[in-house]
Amino acid sequence: MKLPYTLSAIVALSASLISCGSDEEEAKTGSSGGYEAEQVAEALYTVLKADRTVYAKKVVSRLVNTEGVITAHEEWKENKALLLPAQFFREGAEIVDDVEDKPFDFSYSLQSQWPLNYTNAEKQTPAVKEGLKAVSDPNNPAYGKKWVGEEDIAGKRYFVGIYPDKAVAPACWECHNDHANRKPDYPEFKKGDVMGGIVIRIPLAQK
Ligand code: HEC
Repeated sequence: MKLPYTLSAIVALSASLISCGSDEEEAKTGSSGGYEAEQVAEALYTVLKADRTVYAKKVVSRLVNTEGVITAHEEWKENKALLLPAQFFREGAEIVDDVEDKPFDFSYSLQSQWPLNYTNAEKQTPAVKEGLKAVSDPNNPAYGKKWVGEEDIAGKRYFVGIYPDKAVAPACWECHNDHANRKPDYPEFKKGDVMGGIVIRIPLAQK
């Protein structure tokens, strides 16, 4: 699973989200990395999770719960409200999908076996379904841990990594358990349950 990509590509990618310092990083790491797809996914996951935490804690929780100056609402535009964390995450993923000059054709999304936004689940391939089941089922040894696999899409081989998304705050299960889009066969989430996973897909080098 060796890749033609180097850490500099990933560093440039994350650095471009934060600053314009990619040239300096490039010089530091050089071009001899040759990282595995799993490591590339892990690096992306680290950034995505950090951003998800910052938005949830320092934006939503602070302004909604602590300061009480604004609400977070699914219909955020109509309500002049903040986006829900999952919507914020998806907006970013959609921008990345549209970027044409990515160093390689990676993608990511927040997925669940029990989606509130059914459109999200339309993207679930057999590998993603298998991985979500593996990380979300308490009877499975992979429960709560990452799941990794490979799949073919349109003649290209991809690495797929699925990293569990857990019910860390009461707001998570309160909102999901009461939501109008919740189906009767969805589980009643409680603290610590795996509610879904961050799915990261990375193209593998052609053999
Ligand atoms: C106020 C309601 C609300 C809260 C709080 C909330 N969610 Fe969600 N969540 C949603 C909605 C609505 C979606 C669908 C967003 C979209 O359009 O992509 C969603 C999407 C998701 C998804 C992707 C699958 C899906 O349902 O479409 C996961 C996984 C998820 N949330 C986990 C969590 C976790 C973990 C927390 C707590 C850290 C949390 N949610 C907090 C409402 C909420």
